[in-house]
Amino acid sequence: MAEITIRVNGSDAPLSVDPRTSLLDLLRERLGLTGTKKGCDHGQCGACTVLIDGRRANACLALAIAQDGSDVTTVEGLASAEGPADGGDLHPLQAAFIERDAFQCGYCTPGQLCSAAGMLAEGGPSAVTPDLAEDPRLTPAEIRERMSGNLCRCGAYVNIVAAITDVARTGAGDGARAGARAGAREAVT
Ligand code: FES
Ligand code: FES
Repeated sequence: MAEITIRVNGSDAPLSVDPRTSLLDLLRERLGLTGTKKGCDHGQCGACTVLIDGRRANACLALAIAQDGSDVTTVEGLASAEGPADGGDLHPLQAAFIERDAFQCGYCTPGQLCSAAGMLAEGGPSAVTPDLAEDPRLTPAEIRERMSGNLCRCGAYVNIVAAITDVARTGAGDGARAGARAGAREAVT
């Protein structure tokens, strides 16, 4: 066993872990944070996406022991600290997903939300960016490409892209909890 401390959703969690434990299993089985979903457990579906030091990552492929000292945000940590049940605010992406009806069964949704929060903070071109010399605008095509690691078996992609586009337009997704670069992007109208 190894002794590690991971900061999860703003709180330090000192833990004794088997070196073979994935971050996903640590979150779900040890910390009870079951919002992060296990789909394929092989890095193929994106259901387990969390933010590690502000960057999105597949928790099923990340060893817990390698995250010692890291700051991890799960879907439970996206909303304001008070939480919606106590009068706090949803993350703008959560609100947009509700507004746009961007889910059906909801299984992929935590991963979609964390991935989108991380994506909004990223810069640089993607595989569909026409001009590699420029920081591209977040067109629907850019959003689809950048979210392509997150599968939705219900096929809610149209509304997922619409919800993310809404947030990208306002810059509201660039919150500190997502480790975002505020105002980094200009969305297509
Ligand atoms: S459960 Fe991690 S990518 Fe599918
Ligand atoms: S809403 Fe069902 S898998 Fe995406």
